[in-house]
Amino acid sequence: MSLTSQQRIILVTGANKGIGFEVVKKLAKDSSLTNTVILLGSRDLKRGQDALTRLGCPNNVCVLHLDVTSLESILAAIDEIKCKHGGRLDVVINNAAIGDLEFTIDTARKMFSTNYYGMKTLNEHLLPLIRENGRVINVSSACGPIVLYEASKDLQDKYSSSTLNLEQLDCLVEDFISAVGTNTVGELGYNPKTLYLIYSVTKAAVISLTRIEARQWFDTKNILAFSVCPGLCATDMTNNAPDGSPAEVGADSILHLVNTDQSRLENGCFYRAGQQLPQIGMLSRKN
Ligand SMILES: NC(=O)c1ccc[n+]([C@@H]2O[C@H](COP(=O)([O-])OP(=O)(O)OC[C@H]3O[C@@H](n4cnc5c(N)ncnc54)[C@H](OP(=O)(O)O)[C@@H]3O)[C@@H](O)[C@H]2O)c1
Repeated sequence: MSLTSQQRIILVTGANKGIGFEVVKKLAKDSSLTNTVILLGSRDLKRGQDALTRLGCPNNVCVLHLDVTSLESILAAIDEIKCKHGGRLDVVINNAAIGDLEFTIDTARKMFSTNYYGMKTLNEHLLPLIRENGRVINVSSACGPIVLYEASKDLQDKYSSSTLNLEQLDCLVEDFISAVGTNTVGELGYNPKTLYLIYSVTKAAVISLTRIEARQWFDTKNILAFSVCPGLCATDMTNNAPDGSPAEVGADSILHLVNTDQSRLENGCFYRAGQQLPQIGMLSRKN
C-alpha cells in the first residue's frame, strides 16, 4: 500500500471481533472515506489476521498488533505506525476492554489494567502522532453513569469535578482497587450491590479520563475527545446477550463521533446513539 501525504489513518483497538470489528468493517466500506487507512488493532496477531480475512482483505485495512496492557506492545505499534503508515493518526478509537463478573482484587487489577490504564497509557503515547483537529473516542458504557448514580455524593463530586486531574483520578481508581481487596467498597462510598461493580467503575473512570484529556488536548492541538456507550450488544463480552442489539448497531454509536461535525458535538462529553448523556444518572443499560 503506497502512502500519500493526504492519507488519513484511523486506529481501532480490540478490533478482531465484536463491536470493534464492526467499526472497522463499516469504515472500510464507507465510500466517503477516500484515501483512508484503517488500522485493525488486535492483541493477538493471528486473531487480527483472521479478522482481516473475514473482511475479505480490503486494501484499506491493515492489522496492527497491539496489546494495550503492554508498554512494549504500544511502543512497537507506534514504530509500525511510523514506519508503515506515515507516523500520523487522525482518529483513535479506544475500543479494547474486558469484562469479568468475579469480585477479587486480581480481577480488579486486570480489568483496570485494560479498560483504564491501557487506554490512558496508549493515549499518552499516541498523542504526539495525532494530527491537529484529530479525534480520540474512548469506549465506555452506561454502567459508568449508573455506578456513580448509586455512589455517595462525595464520589459523584470527585469523579465529575471540572478540575479533576490525572493524578487524582488514578488515586480514586487505586483506592477503589484496594477496597475491593479489603471488601470495603461500601465504606468508600460505592454501592456494593451495583451490578458489574468493578467493570462499571472502570467505565466511570473512562468518562472522567476523557473529560480530562479533552481539556488538556484541545488547548494544545485542537484534538477532540469523546466517550461513548455502544448500548447493549450481543457479543462475547455479554455472552451474546439475547436482548442485545447486533454489534453493528453498537458500532454506529461510535461512528457517530467519527463522522459528526465538531459544531454539533460537545468536546469531552459522553454519547450513545448520537445523544449526549449525563456523566451520572440511572440510564437504561440497553439502548
Ligand atoms: N457489548 C456490549 O453490550 C457493550 C456495552 C457497553 C460497552 N461496551 C464496550 O464496547 C467495547 C467493545 O466490547 P465488545 O462487546 O465488542 O467486546 P468483545 O467482543 O469481548 O471484544 C473485545 C475486544 O477487545 C480486545 N481486547 C481485550 N483485551 C485487550 C488488550 N489488552 N489489548 C488489546 N485488545 C484487547 C479483545 O481481543 P481478544 O479477542 O484477543 O480477546 C476483543 O477484540 C468495550 O469497550 C466494551 O466495554 C460493550
